[in-house]
Amino acid sequence: MAGQNTFTIIKPLAVTKGYIGPILNKISEAEFKITALKMLHLTRGEAQRFYEVHVGRPFYDDLVEFMISGPIVVAVLEKEDAVEEYRKLIGSTDPEKAEEGTIRKMYAESMQANAVHGSDSDENAEIEAAFFFPSSDRF
Ligand code: CMP
Repeated sequence: MAGQNTFTIIKPLAVTKGYIGPILNKISEAEFKITALKMLHLTRGEAQRFYEVHVGRPFYDDLVEFMISGPIVVAVLEKEDAVEEYRKLIGSTDPEKAEEGTIRKMYAESMQANAVHGSDSDENAEIEAAFFFPSSDRF
């Protein structure tokens, strides 16, 4: 059975451009329930650990640098089939390929500054949510 939870990050450029409100609004309009939420500035070590699966990829170092360039917003989202539904809402990783009306089409600048992260599986959703939120901070 598909899981009920996914995890998202509103990335630094989207935060500095003032898109926290509009992006959270899109999430609410799509009927996700926000069950955990906070704003923080990642350390280099945290960003390296979060994106550990991408170690060795040509974009890894730049991605880490970008993710520590400013504050981010992290959240856990609840909905039936959350991972898949949220991936539809955010659109393709490359904003140029994202469909009209998706979050990345509306708010992303590039593949790296692609406005939001969304988990790619139920298992990763739980790992990523736990990275930022102890169970006492999930509601
Ligand atoms: P995200 O969902 O945060 O997961 C990994 C991130 O790596 C991805 O979004 C992109 O921002 C970035 N990424 C993936 N592929 C590339 C690429 N080919 N070039 C630059 N950045 C990439």
